Amino acid sequence: AALAGRPADLTGRRVLISAGGTREYLDPVRFLGNRSSGLQGYALAEAAAARGARVTLVAANVGLPDPAGVEVVPVVTTEDLRLAVLERVEGSDAVVMAAAPADFRPTSYAASKIKKRDDGATPTIELTENADILAELVRSRTGRTPVVVGFAAETGDDQGTVVEHGLRKLARKGCDLLVVNDVSAGKVFGRDDTEAVILTDAGDTHPVAPGPKSELAHVIWDHVVRRMG
Ligand code: CTP
Ligand code: CA
Repeated sequence: AALAGRPADLTGRRVLISAGGTREYLDPVRFLGNRSSGLQGYALAEAAAARGARVTLVAANVGLPDPAGVEVVPVVTTEDLRLAVLERVEGSDAVVMAAAPADFRPTSYAASKIKKRDDGATPTIELTENADILAELVRSRTGRTPVVVGFAAETGDDQGTVVEHGLRKLARKGCDLLVVNDVSAGKVFGRDDTEAVILTDAGDTHPVAPGPKSELAHVIWDHVVRRMG
């Protein structure tokens, strides 16, 4: 059933969405992770399904129930997420990378639990950089399909405002749209409400009024639909 007031304008379309935060294990009990709850990715999946799309949701460590009518593919690490997305990108009309992939993984994994040492010496964790999935999606694309959407959580700093950081990131990644959240002062993470600016590859900035993640999801699909051939 379509949501009241929303068109079934994704009927016949296939969309691929990633959600959640990946984990990189140090040993069998510990990991490097991040604060992504998966709520925005799940809201995008629900909204796309309500508008008629066939939806695949690659979900990294999300403790939420599967949205109705959506194919959910669970993953743990950034490399798992990368393989799951790249395997499913063909035939997709849009890919939305709402997940927060860990940028680094421990260079080595300890097969048994790392123990404290009697002499009090502290371990040093060496990190290796993970592949950039979004940039890879853009590079592997032929023509304008799929529409590729990235997300960024930014705080302003002495290098620029949230929007300036976002525009630079969009240019660096080469995606069509970048949804930028201002995460300074504990906003957004794990909350139902969000506040974002949608940036386009033409350099346009579309601020979205603060509101529920479900509403932002629909505004994102409005932009994606306009770019679909
Ligand atoms: N992303 C990705 N693969 C990665 C890291 C990020 O596909 N290894 C995607 C995210 O899903 C998101 C977008 O890229 O859609 C931006 O993520 P972000 O972490 O903001 O970008 P980074 O290039 O990792 O920059 P930063 O140094 O600010 O973390
Ligand atoms: Ca990152």
